[in-house]
Amino acid sequence: MITALLLLAQVQNPCQPCHAQIVASYAKTAMARTSSKDSSILRPAERFLEPITQTNFSVSPTLELHFSKQDAFEGTRQLDWVIGSGRVGHSLLFTQGNRLFQSPLSYYSEAGKWQLSPGFQRRPQLDLTRVVEPGCLNCHTSSFNPATLAIEPGISCARCHGHSPQHIATAGKVAALNPKKLPAHERDSICAQCHLTGSARVAKFRPSGDTYQPGKKLSDFSAIFVGGQAEVSSTIGVTSHYENLALSKCKIASGDKLSCTTCHDPHSEPTNAATHFNAKCESCHQNKACPKAPKGDCIQCHMPKAAGRGVDHSSYTNHSIPRTANEAKPGISSTLTSFWSTEANPRDLGLAYAGQSARHPGALATGTNS
Ligand code: HEC
Ligand code: HEC
Ligand code: HEC
Ligand code: HEC
Ligand code: HEC
Ligand code: HEC
Ligand code: HEC
Repeated sequence: MITALLLLAQVQNPCQPCHAQIVASYAKTAMARTSSKDSSILRPAERFLEPITQTNFSVSPTLELHFSKQDAFEGTRQLDWVIGSGRVGHSLLFTQGNRLFQSPLSYYSEAGKWQLSPGFQRRPQLDLTRVVEPGCLNCHTSSFNPATLAIEPGISCARCHGHSPQHIATAGKVAALNPKKLPAHERDSICAQCHLTGSARVAKFRPSGDTYQPGKKLSDFSAIFVGGQAEVSSTIGVTSHYENLALSKCKIASGDKLSCTTCHDPHSEPTNAATHFNAKCESCHQNKACPKAPKGDCIQCHMPKAAGRGVDHSSYTNHSIPRTANEAKPGISSTLTSFWSTEANPRDLGLAYAGQSARHPGALATGTNS
């Protein structure tokens, strides 16, 4: 069954005939598997052999969400879309009319439990009215149509390489977009479209209404702000990988030479993390060995993992590459500042503060007072 599905996915991939090896290895990655309508991707242990109840909700083995409130409001929703590969957890979505909603329960792999979804913890009363915002699907699917709710699951080759019918038609004579050959800002924009969360992200006003495509500068499409509400950082992921790396000495001192792909192969995940990443560190640090542990497992000390991994988008592995564990928490300013080197446009900054205050009532005060 699973093999058949994998084969089907590969046959459908237009790159398969000529890049079979990349297609096969990429299919196993968390990014390729980050969304699915096939609930069999949930492991048996996650599929509630016993119904699990929490507050006024329970989920059945066939992924039906049952709910009942004191005032006798009762019902069932079929959970259909699964978001997340399950490394960290799964969020589930259900369709109601022509809209997608997020289930108040998510599966957390580390705890091995179904618990309230991020953002629901702060709600006095649980409800089923949380519409899935487009950003969620923009980061976790290949494409989606808000009108028809047609979703292409997983993250396709095109999200990083763009669409290149000419490349296929000419069997490679017309080059496809290779991120490696782009200027640094355009190259880094490809990963940033999903890995740079910021504390606020505002779509820029574009008279033509066009959207970001690989090869362009993300800063022309999205104003991204960092800082702001430090006290709620862990629940909205102010510490995303991209911002964290920007704070590291390695990145500051190396500039454009260091990018996400210096350490990560986007088409495969390492089988042995220690060996894989040591080689990456040593590619720059070979001349001056570590004074503490010249032959040690570099990431164990310099890229420590945070405990209590959740599905709340807080970064798990510390990408600020601290010298010692004590320096593991880089300081983040309490005012919103543009992440890009360009000055923020007043409209975008205003919208960023407005968005923060709507989501977190104390945030606006913090911003304007400082
Ligand atoms: C019919 C065969 C064929 C298909 C289908 C095909 N490619 Fe290629 N591709 C090639 C060949 C041949 C090359 C090597 C060209 C070269 O090295 O000059 C190549 C090279 C590339 C490169 C490197 C380009 C560079 O300039 O470094 C990328 C990226 C790429 N392909 C992406 C894709 C993607 C994504 C798809 C699916 C949407 C795809 N290709 C489908 C034949 C194909
Ligand atoms: C379209 C959005 C998108 C783009 C573009 C994207 N990512 Fe991801 N990436 C994700 C999502 C979503 C996940 C989480 C997948 C999951 O576990 O469900 C992820 C997970 C990862 C992981 C963790 C996988 C693991 O081994 O545990 C790495 C590393 C990663 N991405 C690197 C990159 C790099 C490097 C780039 C740019 C070349 C990039 N990503 C571009 C959305 C994206
Ligand atoms: C700006 C892009 C972005 C948005 C918006 C976004 N995510 Fe994510 N999500 C990611 C990335 C990148 C990861 C993996 C890295 C990480 O955990 O920081 C991830 C991880 C996850 C995971 C854990 C997956 C796993 O097992 O590794 C779940 C579940 C998840 N997201 C659900 C959601 C839901 C539901 C929404 C919308 C309500 C959402 N995300 C919005 C980018 C995004
Ligand atoms: C998360 C972003 C991302 C996705 C998804 C992705 N690629 Fe790539 N791809 C890259 C990057 C970045 C490079 C340049 C790697 C480097 O810097 O060496 C690349 C390079 C390539 C190359 C050039 C040869 C090579 O190995 O460097 C080919 C061919 C290619 N990709 C094909 C594919 C195909 C086919 C898929 C889908 C099965 C795919 N890519 C999915 C980011 C991605
Ligand atoms: C692209 C090159 C490059 C890569 C890859 C790289 N670094 Fe660095 N790193 C540097 C430079 C340059 C500096 C600043 C000068 C120095 O201390 O050598 C630095 C500084 C450091 C520091 C000192 C930080 C401080 O606050 O004083 C540590 C620790 C470090 N790197 C560890 C690592 C580890 C661990 C890895 C692999 C996970 C790694 N680096 C990968 C280039 C790199
Ligand atoms: C200096 C090396 C290095 C660079 C550069 C780097 N990473 Fe990582 N990344 C790591 C290591 C090490 C891990 C932990 C891997 C493991 O334990 O299997 C990791 C893990 C991740 C994960 C999985 C979730 C987590 O936090 O453990 C994501 C997502 C990720 N990186 C994204 C990125 C993105 C996006 C960039 C570019 C902004 C980037 N990384 C740059 C070394 C690096
Ligand atoms: C057992 C934990 C541990 C391991 C493993 C480890 N380091 Fe370190 N490293 C440290 C500590 C602690 C310091 C700070 C030493 C000091 O300030 O005296 C340090 C300092 C450094 C520095 C800064 C040196 C300077 O003179 O500024 C670099 C670069 C570095 N490590 C790279 C690495 C690399 C590369 C690896 C993997 C081969 C590695 N470390 C493995 C703990 C470790």
